[in-house]
Amino acid sequence: MLIDRNARLRETRSWGDYRLLGIDSPSLGRTARPGQFVMIKAAEGAVPLLRRPLSVHDAGPDGIELFFKVAGRGTAILAGKRPGDPLDIVGPLGKGFTVSGALNGKRVFCVGGGRGIAPLFFLARMLAGAGARVTVFYGGRTAADIPLKDKFEKAGFELLCSTDDGSHGFAGLVTDLVGREIGRGKPDHLCACGPDPMMKALASKARESRVPAEFSLESVMGCGIGACWGCVHRIKSGGGEEWTKICEDGPVFPGDRIAWTEWGT
Ligand SMILES: Cc1cc2nc3c(=O)[nH]c(=O)nc-3n(C[C@H](O)[C@H](O)[C@H](O)COP(=O)(O)OP(=O)(O)OC[C@H]3O[C@@H](n4cnc5c(N)ncnc54)[C@H](O)[C@@H]3O)c2cc1C
Ligand code: FES
Repeated sequence: MLIDRNARLRETRSWGDYRLLGIDSPSLGRTARPGQFVMIKAAEGAVPLLRRPLSVHDAGPDGIELFFKVAGRGTAILAGKRPGDPLDIVGPLGKGFTVSGALNGKRVFCVGGGRGIAPLFFLARMLAGAGARVTVFYGGRTAADIPLKDKFEKAGFELLCSTDDGSHGFAGLVTDLVGREIGRGKPDHLCACGPDPMMKALASKARESRVPAEFSLESVMGCGIGACWGCVHRIKSGGGEEWTKICEDGPVFPGDRIAWTEWGT
């Protein structure tokens, strides 16, 4: 973990409330792993005081990319940043998705709902680099909620999109699209990030089909580094459950360790 107070915004792209930030930060770019996140200070002053957690969308020798949807004050300030602006970032933080040679030749489903697609570009890229056969599922409410569709297509990933209103791709929930594809041939592994109900439904499909799965959980975070206990949730451990810090022990957990009764009401 490091603090980069010299990170600099290189470029931004925007689609409605969604933003993609390209950030010059070689130190973060070289050390980040898929599924890890950063804590970013939205403004120099005291408001908002706390850094905001954002997943690493992509990383390389020059820096990282972040992708987010404006949700409130912090993300609105970040959305207004201009190329050249300095950024104050702590990261990379947490434990990410499994990317290993054991997935070479295996079929992996990466499922993102809405802004939950954020960590899956980096993940899909690294999985493909490890020899996995990756299918990306990208679900949104409408066609405007799947703005990264072209980016995934250009990168050459097999991409299946869904929209709740049927304005693009499969008409319905991304979980139903995944269910359809599992019926046609089950994957060897599944990774997901998105709204809690989506992940809860996917966890149950993965369990029924005996597909090992990993999920990136969201929790409101005060510090992101294990100091405040603001992010704790019940996680299964040794036959029981215990309060676990999502920022430090996650945010990615195997599906069978998550106490799903707590999530996705
Ligand atoms: C590990 C992690 C990675 C994340 N990665 C991304 C990402 O890549 N892209 C992205 O768009 N968002 C991501 N988020 C969510 C993002 O951190 C919140 O949307 C952001 O902190 C909201 O800050 P704000 O100041 O704009 O809004 P606030 O004014 O703080 O909050 C606006 C609304 O969002 C809710 N909210 C705040 N934080 C969270 C949270 N963590 N989970 C759910 N609801 C929340 C608040 O309750 C409130 O209703 C991630 C969250 C976590 C924990
Ligand atoms: S956010 Fe502070 S302990 Fe996890």
